[in-house]
Amino acid sequence: MKVLGISFGRKMKCSEIMVKEALYKAKEAGAEVEFISTVNMEIGHCKGCGACSTMRDRGGQVKCIIKDDYLILEEAVLNADAIILAAPVFAVGTVGQFKNFVDRFGPAHDRAALEEEQKKRLKEGKTGDELLDPRYFKDRYVGYISVGGASTQNWVSLGLPLMHLFGFSCYMKAVGHIDAYDQGRKANPVFDTELIKQCGDLGRKLAESVGRPYDEIEWMGERGVCPVCHNNLLSIGKDCSTNIECPVCGITGNLEIQNNKIIVTFSEEQKNRARSTMNGLYEHYYEIQGMKEVCIPKLMANKDTLPKMLEKYEKFDEYINQ
Ligand SMILES: Cc1cc2nc3c(=O)[nH]c(=O)nc-3n(C[C@H](O)[C@H](O)[C@H](O)COP(=O)(O)O)c2cc1C
Repeated sequence: MKVLGISFGRKMKCSEIMVKEALYKAKEAGAEVEFISTVNMEIGHCKGCGACSTMRDRGGQVKCIIKDDYLILEEAVLNADAIILAAPVFAVGTVGQFKNFVDRFGPAHDRAALEEEQKKRLKEGKTGDELLDPRYFKDRYVGYISVGGASTQNWVSLGLPLMHLFGFSCYMKAVGHIDAYDQGRKANPVFDTELIKQCGDLGRKLAESVGRPYDEIEWMGERGVCPVCHNNLLSIGKDCSTNIECPVCGITGNLEIQNNKIIVTFSEEQKNRARSTMNGLYEHYYEIQGMKEVCIPKLMANKDTLPKMLEKYEKFDEYINQ
């Protein structure tokens, strides 16, 4: 059983120290561990070329065609059974390098799309290397540590929610998270024995979770307002009604105020369609299939007029100065 720790922070600073503490405890719990610091890695942003999903849907494997250090991280994640990530908060949300990694890893490894492609290949009698990499279908467990310098939590409000975007596409189970803000006044996380203990507990929890059914895993950390991702963000709809949504999970619930306290409830049906569940992933998969059904006939019907309609955008520099 392998636990991978990834730090998106500086060398030997907060994120790295916290991830390493988690790995020490994961090792004590019997895991083989690996640590990666991304700070000096080149991880470019996804250019939206779609090559990864095209290869997936045309008999190949999922591979990003940008040849940079992302490929090292992708391999390490695919070889791991559990992953602990720590990332600094920059400008109220997770550092951009983390988001570059998520954009290139998550959608390409969408579990519903992969399951459907694998079923298709099996039906066609494909075997061995003609099938998709079996590592795409392994259940994995993940823990998140968001690291912020500011002394108040309102300067890290998008840190943990954004970190949760890493694991949902490939159906990883989040086992816990830590909002490690206030690092500026701490000077070094090692001075905060409670925080270091929490990091160790998260590492141990990850190692102990490997192989267990997802619904038997108890959450570690603050419970938050959303019962699925345990974050504290809520979106309010245009109608300003009491119907709210968890923007991380995409599930709707109801908000009430009782004795000056906000009470938020989500039905079982909604919890079972969170983005991080197979139901949620399939909902999005069918949404994408449905888009093709609408979009392709529209393009066919307009194939003669579309080039003319696009001309002023194509030749923008020419047209704008006329
Ligand atoms: C460009 C930049 C923006 C930052 N923005 C925030 C912020 O919005 N909120 C916050 O709490 N800390 C912010 N910080 C502080 C970092 O989160 C903090 O230094 C953290 O410890 C860095 O992680 P590391 O120690 O693992 O490298 C920012 C730091 C930098 C360099």
